[in-house]
Amino acid sequence: MKGMFVKNQKPCIGILTSGGDCPGLNAVIRATVLSSDRLGYSCIGFLRGYEGLVDPVEYMPLTPANTSGILTQGGTILGSTNRGRFAATTGEDNRLSIDPDLLAGVARTVRQLDICGLICIGGDGSLAIADQFHQFGIPVVGVPKTIDNDLNATAFTFGFDSAVSAATDALDRLRTTAASHERIMVLEVMGRHAGWIALHAGLAGGADVILIPEISWSFESVCQKIIDRESVGRRDSLLVVAEGATLPTGNMVCRTSINVNEQVKLGGIGQVVAGEIAQRLDRQTRTVVLGHLQRGGSPTTFDRVLATEFGVLAVQMIHEGHFGEMVCYRPPEIESVPIASAIKRLSQVDPNGSAVRTGRGLGISFGDTC
Ligand code: F6P
Repeated sequence: MKGMFVKNQKPCIGILTSGGDCPGLNAVIRATVLSSDRLGYSCIGFLRGYEGLVDPVEYMPLTPANTSGILTQGGTILGSTNRGRFAATTGEDNRLSIDPDLLAGVARTVRQLDICGLICIGGDGSLAIADQFHQFGIPVVGVPKTIDNDLNATAFTFGFDSAVSAATDALDRLRTTAASHERIMVLEVMGRHAGWIALHAGLAGGADVILIPEISWSFESVCQKIIDRESVGRRDSLLVVAEGATLPTGNMVCRTSINVNEQVKLGGIGQVVAGEIAQRLDRQTRTVVLGHLQRGGSPTTFDRVLATEFGVLAVQMIHEGHFGEMVCYRPPEIESVPIASAIKRLSQVDPNGSAVRTGRGLGISFGDTC
């Protein structure tokens, strides 16, 4: 529906999905719709993230019938964008304020559609927008999502496990071809300024070297690991490189030039690492950039369960009036925290944490020791 305001018979909950998509978004939508229905609410979904909230208002009614079967589908039936009029960033990037006219427009839409609570499903930038809505008096509840797992206040975001699973599958495939040809394979994975995907996939896929933004590394150390493997007869090596890992020079590798007010688009470090190793060791290297393959497709079982629990609690929070809060996973419980506390700083890998220690215990190189 475009620009139409249809009076609802029941109190109405609005839902939107914002930012980069990830597996599990549809599972949240389905859970919120089913749970809303049981508690006596109707639901509408705004289209293309925050864009559908104003000029023109675009939304679709969501019912148990028209959301049936979406639990297993990747992407989002509502569409999403990480650009546009509401673009707000936080964490490592600068935070921007939303135009007050836009905020007033959103408040108007919420009033005209009788929305008693708006569920904003998004990552750090999108939740920063939700927080600004809350400060403007718009009744919002946040649901954290991102494959990057870089949100504070929640142990895991849904989407992360699915991304790690795709990256692990890629490593499994690369291992066999690397072994056949005695090659050095470099897999570049996403994750922005956090190395969670690289670290977990590297552990699950038996990588020999893992390079992440949180640990400084050198080419000497990476090459030494490859030479050490060769000295015991292993002429193939598998490297996982997080897109946000900084080069020994201190530079990040970016896909596009950095414009003011825009998030850095990372990418390309895999090729740089592979090229340097080939030159230093005179070996055959190959690079695979996993890219959006790790963001698409069906959610894993873990992500379906997490997304479903998040969706049901988000509706409960609206029912109980816990606005300005975000659902979060604090094992073993699903809880809620103020959105503001989740967007203050990014969650990054602890270089002394158990996952890194486990890697070191296996002999995985993080490129930081010779
Ligand atoms: O934040 C999710 C993410 O997939 C990052 O890991 C990646 O850097 C970025 O989004 C890619 O963005 P886009 O889809 O705009 O290229």
